[in-house]
Amino acid sequence: METNTRVRLAAEGPTVSRLAYGVWRLLDDPEGASARRVLDKIHACLDCGITTFDHADIYGGYRCEEAFGEALRASPGLRERIEIVTKCGIMLAHPARPENRLKHYDYSRRHIVSSVERSLKNLGTDHLDVLLLHRPSPMLDPDEVAVTIEMLRKEGKVLHVGVSNFTPSQLEMLQSRLASPIVTNQVEVNLLRLDVFVDGTLDQCQRLGISPMAWSPTAGGRIFHGGGDVERRVRSALGELCRKYGAAPDTILFAWLLEHPSKMVPVVGTNRIDRIRGAASALAIDLDLQDWFFLWTASNGWEVP
Ligand SMILES: NC(=O)c1ccc[n+]([C@@H]2O[C@H](COP(=O)([O-])OP(=O)(O)OC[C@H]3O[C@@H](n4cnc5c(N)ncnc54)[C@H](OP(=O)(O)O)[C@@H]3O)[C@@H](O)[C@H]2O)c1
Repeated sequence: METNTRVRLAAEGPTVSRLAYGVWRLLDDPEGASARRVLDKIHACLDCGITTFDHADIYGGYRCEEAFGEALRASPGLRERIEIVTKCGIMLAHPARPENRLKHYDYSRRHIVSSVERSLKNLGTDHLDVLLLHRPSPMLDPDEVAVTIEMLRKEGKVLHVGVSNFTPSQLEMLQSRLASPIVTNQVEVNLLRLDVFVDGTLDQCQRLGISPMAWSPTAGGRIFHGGGDVERRVRSALGELCRKYGAAPDTILFAWLLEHPSKMVPVVGTNRIDRIRGAASALAIDLDLQDWFFLWTASNGWEVP
């Protein structure tokens, strides 16, 4: 099903909401991360059509999945109303993983399987809608990953597979061995980070018919409070468009991401419920082509050639 609030990530991929909600900063919420507070945010998302939740095993020092899982356990039936994306592969040097002497990546069969099992347990679910390989690794063995993913899919523990922060050639190399289609590439995209528009990443997504997921859509909030020239130019341009569209700056910048023909899925990162609603209201905005380029030009600092 494809509407203006839902999108199919790939031809053989899952249908997700047009915006996802990311839980990386869940434990930084000034209002806490109790099951009650997490449920309030989940319901705020559902109320505005956001049903897809983006996790990683490592978020919150390996604790975010569990905090989210507690909320799901407190609300039977909620799991069936949402899609869960999570990631594996980054090994943090962290007290929760004393065996990691340094930060590194691990895509061995043993690690992928144990990471998935732990995510399932923490989240209190029997399946992950999408598993992403969090970052490319120079030591990734595509044949080992392929065998592991096919096994996890056969067991029904992982329904779909994707990647994150992969270059086009890294994605293509992995896809050449996987029987399952890669359903997304989750990459950093925002008005301070335009690389993927010009380095082939979004071209590849469109060629393969997969929707990218856009992480840090507000550049970690720097668009709103950063002191550099680019931030100032972007804020000033956003201000003009706010007046024209009668919308808040964050709504305009989510509309800018949503307008792109790759049908990218921005991953909303705020802990504030009013800002979740502000992001979702971007779905009602039809950003004019010249206004899209107005923001592009403000970010680059020069007009297109
Ligand atoms: N795949 C990857 O490698 C990767 C990497 C990073 C993130 N991600 C995913 O992407 C998600 C989103 O990333 P993100 O958290 O960096 O998103 P973001 O929206 O770029 O940054 C969120 C931060 O910006 C602040 N912010 C948002 N709107 C604001 C506004 N209008 N004014 C002032 N501050 C504002 C938020 O503060 P408040 O909470 O106070 O609003 C929060 O601290 C993550 O949760 C994670 O799921 C993936």
